[in-house]
Amino acid sequence: MRTKPVEDVLAQAEQDGEQRLSRRLGPLDLMGFGIGIVIGTGIFTLTGIEARDHAGPAVTVAFLLAGVVSLLAALCYAELASSVPTAGSAYTYAYATLGEIFAWIIGWDLVLEFALGAAVVARGWSGYLAELLDLPGTIFGEGSVVNVGAIVITLVLGAVAAAGIRQSSRVTNVLVVVKIAVCVFVVVAGLFFVKAANLSPFVPAAEPPAADESGLARPLTQVLFGLAPSTYGMAGVLTAAAVVFFAYTGFEAVANLGEETRRPRRDLPLGLFGTLGVSALLYIAVSFVLVGMVDYRQIDPGAPIASAFSAVGAGWASTLVSIAAVAGLTSVILVDIVAIGRIGFAMSRDGLLPPAVGAVHPRWGTPYRTTIGVTLGVAALAGFVPLSSLANLVSIGTLFAFVVVSIAVPVLRRTRPGLNRAFRVPLSPVVPVLSALACLYLMTNLSVETWLRFLVWMAVGLGVYLVYGRRRAALSEGAPARPSAARRTGDRS
Ligand code: ALA
Repeated sequence: MRTKPVEDVLAQAEQDGEQRLSRRLGPLDLMGFGIGIVIGTGIFTLTGIEARDHAGPAVTVAFLLAGVVSLLAALCYAELASSVPTAGSAYTYAYATLGEIFAWIIGWDLVLEFALGAAVVARGWSGYLAELLDLPGTIFGEGSVVNVGAIVITLVLGAVAAAGIRQSSRVTNVLVVVKIAVCVFVVVAGLFFVKAANLSPFVPAAEPPAADESGLARPLTQVLFGLAPSTYGMAGVLTAAAVVFFAYTGFEAVANLGEETRRPRRDLPLGLFGTLGVSALLYIAVSFVLVGMVDYRQIDPGAPIASAFSAVGAGWASTLVSIAAVAGLTSVILVDIVAIGRIGFAMSRDGLLPPAVGAVHPRWGTPYRTTIGVTLGVAALAGFVPLSSLANLVSIGTLFAFVVVSIAVPVLRRTRPGLNRAFRVPLSPVVPVLSALACLYLMTNLSVETWLRFLVWMAVGLGVYLVYGRRRAALSEGAPARPSAARRTGDRS
């Protein structure tokens, strides 16, 4: 339960040598990274599936609800990021407030979120590219034994991420401009095809699910409280909100760039809110246009937006949408790899991972070893494992991190009331507690099998901590000496 003093966190970010990242980013770069990781598969696929299977036209409301939950969490992230800017983000906030074991759990959880997210999206990328360019499904599709497309894109983006934060930022910004432009185009062009009849009933009446869902595929809430399975209605909208939450995951990666931002206290909140605001607006508008263009029962779950344009006789637009999807997914993978490099760097600096892992390259200024290691891991996962069913694990991992970050806000207010907080969550502790509860609620709307997979992953993580991190941590009594500020004293609580 030992905690890491905030002063140590702040001092570490300023120390010289192999353990320092270079400050090169401004607020627009942060928003570029944020939008780069957020807008991806979610909007291009889940919108269709959730409108058709759970929410009907009210999928727009599901996006709004998931956006509100994300905003609550973003407020908490903004306070912590502006008072303790660091590469570790949620991991470090947990270390400074709740204790080392929670920090480790969160770090482990973030590895799940970002590494698995990158691998899931790399496979999706490969599939979209195959569709766009008519490439062979045997090496690009979900059914391939070795998904060459997913491996190649992961390796290329891993190289960009290792080469430097400015290089990653430039590539991301170009991709972000393409995808925002296409989303705006979808909204403007699509509005001409919206028919009021498709939007009614806006919230279809609840009905029993068409296919018998097995117990494991049902939301945890239904199983825990013995609720009868149903689809549509308000319960359907809430289920859809939990699933489309995936589309918002990743905005918090902005907080991992705290040690590479020139003016972190001012710019991290701007990056977080800017990312979320732009994404939420686009999501709500795009999903509204989609359900307005096509009857929700007729939506194509595979490529809903592209097919909607084909269905109204504007097939040319569907090519444009596929290009945006490929661009969108590329930047998601890149920022996932960038973010995980920073978390590995922060954990290794604290001794919870071997010190060699976190070394910063003298010229590139990046934690290149973590980045390369993660890239190889993600490439192997994406190349050989069919992962599409694991997307919900990314959501549950993210929500869990949000719960911990929300709790960390009032804890730090109590333990360190005098800390310089450039941004303060309004009405603390009410808003942070609401945020934690809303995230927990969305978690319970995810399926039982997602929960089981998540618990297994966390149990493995706990095992690794007990065997390695507990003794090797820089704050531990018997830890090997390291040039880290965290060695000095321990604020043992
Ligand atoms: N939020 C990202 C997406 O929707 C992961 O693809």
